[in-house]
Amino acid sequence: MRKLTYFVACSIDGFIGDPKGDASSMYQFVTEEFLDFLKTEYPETVAAGGREALGFQDLENRRFDTVVQGRGSYQLALDTGVTSPYGHLREYVASRTLGESPDPNVTLITEDVPGAIRKLKAEDGELGIWLCGGSQIAGELLDEIDELVIKTYPQVYGSGMPMFGSDFAVTDFALESVRTFDNGALVRTYSRKR
Ligand SMILES: NC(=O)c1ccc[n+]([C@@H]2O[C@H](COP(=O)([O-])OP(=O)(O)OC[C@H]3O[C@@H](n4cnc5c(N)ncnc54)[C@H](OP(=O)(O)O)[C@@H]3O)[C@@H](O)[C@H]2O)c1
Repeated sequence: MRKLTYFVACSIDGFIGDPKGDASSMYQFVTEEFLDFLKTEYPETVAAGGREALGFQDLENRRFDTVVQGRGSYQLALDTGVTSPYGHLREYVASRTLGESPDPNVTLITEDVPGAIRKLKAEDGELGIWLCGGSQIAGELLDEIDELVIKTYPQVYGSGMPMFGSDFAVTDFALESVRTFDNGALVRTYSRKR
């Protein structure tokens, strides 16, 4: 069984972006030490443009071979003319409005998103599935999430786009590891308690 991992950047108070989802205030924390961590442990989570700029393009995927995005998150790439932001992974995008996939590497999920994810999780393979976000799709997939990797940057947003766009419900996770960075960033890994 492959794991679905929500690997996401957020503020101290659990927002993944401003009310519209913009997380650009967090970029300043992606310093040399943090980049080194990404390069060693999660190089596949850097999108195409960044991979090229950072010289990551020949790095092997370490944790994931598949990425799942909501159309809201994918739209950020489309708006810059990029149809396959994670071409080094199998890309799945949930959308009822796109109609047809803009890219041969992108498979649309148009209905029963949890069912589609369960099928991906049931496939054989050593690498896992990265749930990229955003908030709405993460809320819909909360029951399917096996692991959280939360990059927390030392900022409070007060309000904004929550990590999960879902109704109140308590879901238990166990802390597996915490990594701290000189700039105050934290990366916490939690596994789902089932
Ligand atoms: N901080 C981070 O690490 C991080 C990571 C990722 C994203 N983000 C931010 O998150 C924001 C986007 O989040 P969001 O909550 O607005 O959108 P989202 O969750 O990325 O996407 C929502 C869209 O997914 C589709 N969808 C949702 N449920 C579906 C279902 N059951 N069946 C089929 N399609 C479904 C719909 O697309 P259609 O409208 O096409 O039907 C819906 O509009 C972006 O601004 C981005 O910056 C932040």
